Amino acid sequence: MTALKSSPAWKALKAHHAQIGNLHLRAMFNDDPGRADRFSAEGGGLFLDYSKNRINAETVRLLLGLAEERGVANRRDDMFSGEKINVTERRAVLHIALRAPRGARIEVDGADVVADVHKVLDAMAEFAARIRDGRYVGHTCKRIRNVVNIGIGGSFLGPQMAYRALRAFGDRSMNFRFVANVDGTDFSEATQDLDAAETLFIISSKTFTTLETMTNATAARAWLVEKVGSDAAVSRHFAAVSTNIEGVTKFGVDPANTFGFWDWVGGRYSMDSAIGLSTMIAIGAENFAAMLAGFHAMDEHFRTAPPARNLPLLLGLLTVWYNNFFGAQTIGIMPYAAALARFPAYLQQLQMESNGKHVDLEGHPVDYQTGPIVWGEPGTDGQHSFYQLLHQGTKLVPCDMIGFCKPLSPLAGQHDLLMANMFAQAEALAFGKTAAELMAEGSPDFQTPFRVTEGNRPTNTILADTLDPTTLGSLLALYEHSVFTQGAVWSIDSFDQWGVELGKVLAGRIIPELRLGVEPDLKHDSSTNALIVRFRSRRKDAS
Ligand code: F6P
Repeated sequence: MTALKSSPAWKALKAHHAQIGNLHLRAMFNDDPGRADRFSAEGGGLFLDYSKNRINAETVRLLLGLAEERGVANRRDDMFSGEKINVTERRAVLHIALRAPRGARIEVDGADVVADVHKVLDAMAEFAARIRDGRYVGHTCKRIRNVVNIGIGGSFLGPQMAYRALRAFGDRSMNFRFVANVDGTDFSEATQDLDAAETLFIISSKTFTTLETMTNATAARAWLVEKVGSDAAVSRHFAAVSTNIEGVTKFGVDPANTFGFWDWVGGRYSMDSAIGLSTMIAIGAENFAAMLAGFHAMDEHFRTAPPARNLPLLLGLLTVWYNNFFGAQTIGIMPYAAALARFPAYLQQLQMESNGKHVDLEGHPVDYQTGPIVWGEPGTDGQHSFYQLLHQGTKLVPCDMIGFCKPLSPLAGQHDLLMANMFAQAEALAFGKTAAELMAEGSPDFQTPFRVTEGNRPTNTILADTLDPTTLGSLLALYEHSVFTQGAVWSIDSFDQWGVELGKVLAGRIIPELRLGVEPDLKHDSSTNALIVRFRSRRKDAS
């Protein structure tokens, strides 16, 4: 494949950007009354209005041309058919198989995986039902009322985000907690008010070797044994989710409470695998199935919808447009739903661990920007903290506004206020307010320059009916495939994460150096050495 920057589509986009990059959304909307219709699309139960982007019909044509030239559709088809597109780990990338309907057939190395997926889903459903209806009890025959998921990264962010997003569909008689950080306060705070006899720990880890998770799992075992007063309690109070069944067995989790998944599921793409066990216990197997159906609907949309109406493709290409042609460094994710409070954090891992890459698929350094920084907060909270910079700062921050037509809360009137704010913010960001408009409204001269909002700040608006399990699934798959599209354009491996390894190795080296008692022979750089010395001496003083 031609190098990205010398490809005809890239060059055409560069020239096109030079022509239209400075056009104002005000003018673009004035010149084209059909713009909102022209630049909106629907799929998988989601409506995407992308008209408030700094694009015209030619931009879309050129971006779709870029996707074609970079072979995005072929790569997508390779993913769906189980090709080993995670080249650096020689693995298939088949999160789409996790939500394939029963009876579908998707092969890895000639063997169908969908039947295995449903076998695990059935076992999870049975386990979840027994916990929810009280047939499954703890060591002292008490009903399980607390579920504590211990896991980090993809084994944490998805389950925690989904639990919060779908609380309206959850069992309110149960408590769900999520422990991720190796900081002991995370575990202590999550468990300090729980009755151990009513608590189930789910150890969620793809590898079952992650330092944070194994440390917290060990702390959980000690906590449980101490509180319940018996080693035998472990088998009733622990479940595990992993691809490393040997590690799980060694840890002592009852095989009947162990749920597997496969190396073709990336950690950040795993919340709809058995990693979603806590989600299933919270919302029930039927709602979990509805979530999978939502994922699948978007998978099918991505696989079959024509490019010009393909939501994940368009979303991914718009990210490339701002990232590579406008030099935008970040994307803001603003869900207008308090229940999606952890959605930006979830997307952070999805996007940044997938596309934060410095070499292409052949291992050559890239000479273009790859994945943007993702951040965000729910609206309206963000409006009262950082939106000032979005409106009047000097940086271009394209944002996704995500909202729902129907409220989940009984305070329906407040939902109108929420959504009015979402629509208003997108409008203000796009069109701003000129000095002339302000002066016509009587703005004092001395204030006018400070009050001007330039506008021309791009947003996508994603609108769905209700934040329910199906919609959540669809929304998550939308972003998964948007991330995929970007990675395909940039010719990077969106499914490995080698960059996280070095820090883990160095931490492993430093851990024994912090232990008091033995004087370590420090061989780091002068800064790290001095910090370790200072830490040791202060810690000794404190103890
Ligand atoms: O360190 C990064 C990472 O490997 C993520 O990719 C993953 O989601 C997380 O750690 C947790 O890994 P595991 O599920 O194997 O404990």
